[in-house]
Amino acid sequence: MRNLLPYFRGQRLKCVLAPLFKMLEATLELIVPLIVADIIDNGIASGDKNYIISRCLQLIVLGFAGLVFSVTAQYFSARAAVSFVKNLKHAIYKKIQYLSFSQFDKNGTSTLITRLTSDMDSVQNGVNLTLRLLLRSPFVVFGACIMAFRVDTHSSVSFAAAVPLMSVIIFGLMMLTIPLNKKIREALDGALLTTRESITGARVLRAFGRERDAVSEFEDKNTYLTLLQEKTGRLSALLNPLTCLTVNSAVALLIWLGAQRVNAGFITCGAVVALYNYMSQILVELIKLANLIVTLTKSIACAGRISSLLGIEDEEIPESGKTCVSDDYIVFDNVSFTYPGASEPSLENISFTVGKGERIGVIGSTGAGKTTLVNLLAGFYRPTSGDIFINGKSVSSYGREELSSIISYAEQKAVIFKGTVRSNLLFGNPQATDSELTDALKAAQAYEFVSEKPGGLDCITEQRGRNFSGGQRQRLSVARALAAKSDILILDDTSSALDYLTDLNMRRAVSELDYRAVFTVSQRTGSIMDCDRIILLENGRASAGTHSQLLESSDVYREIHFSQFEEDDPLYAKGGLPV
Ligand SMILES: Nc1ncnc2c1ncn2[C@@H]1O[C@H](COP(=O)(O)OP(=O)(O)O)[C@@H](O)[C@H]1O
Ligand SMILES: [Mg+2]
Repeated sequence: MRNLLPYFRGQRLKCVLAPLFKMLEATLELIVPLIVADIIDNGIASGDKNYIISRCLQLIVLGFAGLVFSVTAQYFSARAAVSFVKNLKHAIYKKIQYLSFSQFDKNGTSTLITRLTSDMDSVQNGVNLTLRLLLRSPFVVFGACIMAFRVDTHSSVSFAAAVPLMSVIIFGLMMLTIPLNKKIREALDGALLTTRESITGARVLRAFGRERDAVSEFEDKNTYLTLLQEKTGRLSALLNPLTCLTVNSAVALLIWLGAQRVNAGFITCGAVVALYNYMSQILVELIKLANLIVTLTKSIACAGRISSLLGIEDEEIPESGKTCVSDDYIVFDNVSFTYPGASEPSLENISFTVGKGERIGVIGSTGAGKTTLVNLLAGFYRPTSGDIFINGKSVSSYGREELSSIISYAEQKAVIFKGTVRSNLLFGNPQATDSELTDALKAAQAYEFVSEKPGGLDCITEQRGRNFSGGQRQRLSVARALAAKSDILILDDTSSALDYLTDLNMRRAVSELDYRAVFTVSQRTGSIMDCDRIILLENGRASAGTHSQLLESSDVYREIHFSQFEEDDPLYAKGGLPV
């Protein structure tokens, strides 16, 4: 967790001042019982009103000074904790933005969000409490013991008995509840996950009549959570009675011993009151310390998770050492790819080349590896073996920004951000003019529905683009890719929710645009049959050819094609281009 320390930069002084002021406050607290004893022994005993008043004023001044010290400490610790977490959040957010896709897959989106939100809150709380209490509480406990022994060693025997006993009770219970609390958090995570899945997927659950299962699953998780909480609650509930019993027994012992000592004339009544006050201070501080340790264990766990995310090394780019032997614009040279943790490769020994200006269709059933293929081309993942070259240079040796300026990618799951149509379209090309945006919308067959929306280009897109239909989102995502103006265009299954006519119009418009290479991924032969070459993927292996060649040579391709079109379909006749 050492890698978190640099984020305290600029906060060192605050980290020293906060505990220091807290200790000053504690020192004043330790003086108070002595003054009270003095008032009883000297002021009240002699009936000297003025003396009592002056000592009381002293108490008020001490109280006020304590308040100032405490607020100052609070200020420094809060500032230090907030600044530390702010620095850390910046660093983690930046780290997440630059994670590779494989690292993203490994960590999972919801985990990353937890790191940035609740884990950070917990760390902030931990730092704040540590700065204030970690030194203060032991200081008061030891200080109060020492003061008590100084007041009267004989009567303080009860301290020697009570403090260790209370420590055992408080910390013993804490040790029992910490693992239970951990289990509760895990159970809570499980229950939250179930809740989120069933609520976001409510429509699907309804459609399949699975409401009862959802309810019973939730009930199981909730019951387990409740059981754990009850068990923990029962243990925690022991804390108060046990400590009160110990403290009150110790107080009784103290008063009994003290009374004998007062009667024998060794100590005064005030001294007994002072001892009693020290005992209460110790109890309060031990409970605070136990709570602090509970909070700390949680924060340390969170800090550990944040630290390990921060410690993820930038992914090393494996140098294939191969040089491109072909003059073609894009070369896939014996590329294989296995997802991290997967048992089987998703792509195996894929080789093909693409000449400048060629349009490539990629087809195959779901899970055949189409998205994986274009993801590799876009540099989102590195091939496990083999290499991909663009313009004679390996994709791995392109910088991220360089690659994204060469390639525009309309992804399979159209992701639309909250904002406006314009803000979404400007993603790939912030300098695009209105007429360029309109051209992109027109080519993507999105102009009509966007211009019908209030505000046109400036119409609001809600979170995940939910105020647009699936097909509209797909077309907006295509328009975004077109507006980015690059050399290579990748359309990953972007016409799956479009009718054939819209799909055809979009393909025609795109074919008129000036790209060095266009990759169209689809599950429909109709969407790719007019491409210059078609890559057919089956279980991660590829065969290539034109529509008519594949119809001749591949059973799978024929099967896909004729499952979608009648053999005598005039529009999509064998090998013919759509009219
Ligand atoms: N992020 C991932 N992690 C692990 N396996 C994956 C991941 N994405 C896809 N796969 C697996 O790789 C194979 C190909 O997936 P994909 O390229 O998405 O297929 P397609 O786009 O042709 O439907 C599938 O078997 C899928 O389960
Ligand atoms: Mg896919």
